[in-house]
Amino acid sequence: MKEAARQARAESRIIGLVPTMGALHAGHLSLIERARRECSPVIASIFVNPKQFGPNEDFSKYPRTFESDSEKLQGAGVDFLFAPEPREIYPEGFATYVNVDGLSDRLEGRARPGHFRGVTTVVMKLLQIVQPNFAYFGRKDAQQSRLIKQMARDLNLGAEIVVCPPVREADGLALSSRNVYLNAEEGKAATVLYRALEATRTELAAGVRDALQLQAVLQRTLGAERRARVDYAEIVDAESFEPVVRMSKPCYVLLAVFIGKTRLIDNLYVEPKSPDSEDLVFQF
Ligand code: PAJ
Repeated sequence: MKEAARQARAESRIIGLVPTMGALHAGHLSLIERARRECSPVIASIFVNPKQFGPNEDFSKYPRTFESDSEKLQGAGVDFLFAPEPREIYPEGFATYVNVDGLSDRLEGRARPGHFRGVTTVVMKLLQIVQPNFAYFGRKDAQQSRLIKQMARDLNLGAEIVVCPPVREADGLALSSRNVYLNAEEGKAATVLYRALEATRTELAAGVRDALQLQAVLQRTLGAERRARVDYAEIVDAESFEPVVRMSKPCYVLLAVFIGKTRLIDNLYVEPKSPDSEDLVFQF
């Protein structure tokens, strides 16, 4: 991989990297499409990173569909697929980690201790191996993309981090490799995340800005779905990821909800149309 990337750099080509853990869906492919518009060659990686899974999480049963993934990537026009083995990425004696202080410990980081340290470490390694001009991530994982941007800035990485919108099913459910864990009833129940975000949007559009009032709407919508158990439902500042009292600056409505045993996340990005405007722009 390093040699192929070195050669592309020597030819002054624009390298795009799309890191994934496989079990590819249309969300992943949207990142590839964007990369293809802006880069050549496009490199996709598949690596189910053991260091970002907690001891009681789904590392061993995480869906692994390498054959069909590799066909999808070929069909999508990817130039290189980088699929290293765990021992290549973490050889005996591996001891160096990258951690973004503060931001890594909140929300997803609090629910999943050590998760983001695993993510930033592996993404750092992938960026070091490939040294791309652009690396593409999904805003579906809002806190993850925020952290990766922070790492790239703090450590003077050469790659520009590009964050792309989530791809959803027709019913609003954000595509995720973990959706395969859901049975038919749970699949229906899982749309409650999107419905809760929609309900919040309706309140915001009607002029509600008080975070407690918006929280109540979230809890009410999520609480009405008996298969759903809320892990967190927060309205946070889009930069700091600290809870807000009033929605006045760019914010995320962030959700982490168990549907049965499956933990799903989703978010809505909200910002004022212009700095002093009361009108808002919503991005699902
Ligand atoms: P994975 O869950 O495979 O996701 C790979 C990339 O696809 C991430 O940037 C993620 O945000 C993006 N993605 C996931 N679902 C999406 C959707 N519905 N629409 C658009 N993009 C979507 O996230 C990871 O892997 C790992 O943490 C990784 C960054 C690869 C590090 O191991």
